Amino acid sequence: MNSFKILLLNGPNLNLLGTRESSIYGTITLKELLNKLYKKSSTMNAKITHVQSNAEHILIEEIHKSIKYDYIIINPAAFTHTSIALRDALLSVKTPFIEVHISNIYAREKFRKNSWISDISSGVISGFGTDGYFWALKTAITRLKKNKK
Ligand code: DQA
Repeated sequence: MNSFKILLLNGPNLNLLGTRESSIYGTITLKELLNKLYKKSSTMNAKITHVQSNAEHILIEEIHKSIKYDYIIINPAAFTHTSIALRDALLSVKTPFIEVHISNIYAREKFRKNSWISDISSGVISGFGTDGYFWALKTAITRLKKNKK
């Protein structure tokens, strides 16, 4: 059986995971998190391709190319709250996606409560630390197995 292809996108400042505001985002680095996710995905017949970018257009271009993936897991970071362009890109492709946030965006500043992509996502995971990425992966694979978005 061909493995499920997952595109994992991380937005601005998530390259600083581990050192950036560790009381909010934890101490695990992006590299450590990715190694764990790759390990997990290999037990689930899934292959993760990861792109982290601080540039909006790079994330948009990756979304445009996402036709070759079965599912997108995306933490758009601050672009969540600002980017209609990211929303339009996700609307332009048919690839289903799950929105992940490490922190609980609803329990922070008012401006973080708005997401431009939640209502078009197949689900949102927010506030469970980096565990949220694993749950998103699990959910994506379960849904793909059931052939559901
Ligand atoms: C974040 C929450 C956003 O509000 C913030 O701008 C981030 C990270 C999270 O993972 O909790 O950079 O998406």
